[in-house]
Amino acid sequence: MTFLERIVGYFRENIEKARSYEPGFQPSQTDEAIKLNTNENPYPPSPKVLKVLSEITAEQLRRYPDPQGNAFRQAAAEINGVQPDNILCCNGGDELLNIAIRAFCDENRPVAYPVPTYSLYPVLANIQNCKAIEIPFDSEFNLPAKLSATGAALTIVCNPNAPTGTFINVGELASLADELKRVLLIDEAYVDFAETNCTSLVKDLDNVIILRSMSKGYSLAGLRFGYAIARTELIAGLMKVKDSYNVDAVAIALATAAIKDQQYFKENVEKVKENRKELAEQLRLLNFEVPNSSTNFVLAKSKNGKAGEIYDKLVQRGIYIRYFDLPGVDDKLRITVGTKEQNQKLLSALQDILSDATLRSPSGT
Ligand SMILES: Cc1ncc(COP(=O)(O)O)c(C=O)c1O
Repeated sequence: MTFLERIVGYFRENIEKARSYEPGFQPSQTDEAIKLNTNENPYPPSPKVLKVLSEITAEQLRRYPDPQGNAFRQAAAEINGVQPDNILCCNGGDELLNIAIRAFCDENRPVAYPVPTYSLYPVLANIQNCKAIEIPFDSEFNLPAKLSATGAALTIVCNPNAPTGTFINVGELASLADELKRVLLIDEAYVDFAETNCTSLVKDLDNVIILRSMSKGYSLAGLRFGYAIARTELIAGLMKVKDSYNVDAVAIALATAAIKDQQYFKENVEKVKENRKELAEQLRLLNFEVPNSSTNFVLAKSKNGKAGEIYDKLVQRGIYIRYFDLPGVDDKLRITVGTKEQNQKLLSALQDILSDATLRSPSGT
């Protein structure tokens, strides 16, 4: 008997059958690749973060961290106009999704969300063995009316949405939360690049959880830090589910330094937004359809539908973007906004690739 035959039955059935989440390709650090595939910020984190990193002591490493990350909660509460008890620190926004699904869902308590969206949601639902109710967006990615009637224990709306970059206005989400009998988690991982956010909903609605990430606007994807904003009772319930020491001492210190440096953060975000505008304009000149984005990526529709082929040709040139072979997005390319230089290299490569007439013309001829 082979080892593979022997381990049949070791795992729960749904884990055995599961497909794991597929993260974007990570070339090695020394690689010359242009990496516009995982929505990282192209600029470094605040110098104040690096200073705190250089001052980490052996004592901070020897001891267990503060289980609640109170230094960060205090700073994040001030910036968001809430109380520290309204904040839960997490090992990346992904951990909050994991905690929420474990806290609210099981075999009899489904999760619901509009699709296409962040492909981690069904993966987590499968691990928890809960049904995932997927409600398709319309062609303009408006909030589907049916979402309020699913009866799900947890409804997730990614806003701004990934991979579309579109934004649903705060009033519509307030109405949805009001109609839902259970919890609404608004995944605001990309909200730093939008014009507004849903924090105000937490004050009036007791069923709203906001997810925030330090990976995007604060350039800390490698650190793994995110947080929730919600009513204290919801935060207290989520605390029961998290690991005791879910955020480490170095991460707490660095994330706190990052969120306190609002001036650097705002300048950083503005640079990305300016590059986003230029990138979208240039892509439109290359005949892509590019809706306005509220994130640090754009979703570019190839008018000939050959997005997969264009993606492959970019990979051959060491340029990594993201292509999803999924309904609604399989004719589109998701491109992270890079530095001006990175964007220019991508655009030159696209121009070159599209000079091949079969990839440029709408008929594909
Ligand atoms: C929609 C969405 N939500 C949440 C996350 C989680 O972010 P992180 O775990 O890096 O904070 C991501 C990461 O890319 C994302 O795209």
